[in-house]
Amino acid sequence: MLKNKTALITGGGSGIGRATALEFAKYGAFSIILDQNPEAAAKVAREIEQAGGKAAGVSADVASSEKLSAAFDEVRCHTSELHILVNSAGIYVFKNATTADETDWDRCLDVDLKGAWVCAKHALPMMIASGGGSIVNIASTHAVRAQGNSFPYGVAKGGMLSLTQNLAVDFGPKGIRVNSISPGLVFSPMTLDYLEENKKLSAGQILALQPLPVKILPEDVANAALFLASDMSRCITGANLLVDAGRTIYLSVKNAD
Ligand SMILES: NC(=O)c1ccc[n+]([C@@H]2O[C@H](COP(=O)([O-])OP(=O)(O)OC[C@H]3O[C@@H](n4cnc5c(N)ncnc54)[C@H](O)[C@@H]3O)[C@@H](O)[C@H]2O)c1
Repeated sequence: MLKNKTALITGGGSGIGRATALEFAKYGAFSIILDQNPEAAAKVAREIEQAGGKAAGVSADVASSEKLSAAFDEVRCHTSELHILVNSAGIYVFKNATTADETDWDRCLDVDLKGAWVCAKHALPMMIASGGGSIVNIASTHAVRAQGNSFPYGVAKGGMLSLTQNLAVDFGPKGIRVNSISPGLVFSPMTLDYLEENKKLSAGQILALQPLPVKILPEDVANAALFLASDMSRCITGANLLVDAGRTIYLSVKNAD
């Protein structure tokens, strides 16, 4: 499905990004893993190579334009072609408008939103020169519904949907499709850390928020990314695909029982 395609996956060292890098390589892509953690990026690249795939690891903090610029120089040493960009690098800051400070806002928006834009800015000329391609932004259900005490994370992810639409409109004529995925609560290392810090929320309580009582795994999001990255979705751009087991459309009737 992705034979002869080159994909760059930010945040590919862990969770959703890692699962996506592995999935893309399984379907024939050369997966380049960009992560602020160089050991994690190298480890995922090794995992892919050991399974017979093609991969490389690159290290950068997506919030640093300077480091990203150097990372893209490194990407160009690995490949002259780029067809797919997945923006998965992200952090959460779950506060509210009064408890968050400007440092929280700056870091969260710089990593989760500006990082995705600057990666796209570097990737787009390569993708256009390669004959077109697909960008997949990993947003969140927080982008479409305010879930409470999720500030400024929800703001950054909401911005990502607008980033997706703006890129889709501006670069569609150049053969670039741009879509986002909004996962619900995914059982990734990020979520497990969060649950460990907030012991009041159990896995059972999370599943009760979803019509489908299934644990969403990084691989479930990677499957959606594979669809959006491949020609299977060739007529889809500017869309936001919810991978949330129905959580966003579910108006809980618990209180009406
Ligand atoms: N886990 C969830 O429930 C969930 C739900 C909705 C959306 N998301 C989004 O999915 C994306 C991936 O989350 P995950 O659950 O896989 O998290 P994760 O913590 O398992 O992985 C995130 C990866 O991104 C890297 N990273 C973080 N900041 C970076 C930076 N500044 N520069 C480069 N790399 C950086 C980390 O080193 C890590 O390898 C994030 O954007 C997150 O907001 C996650």
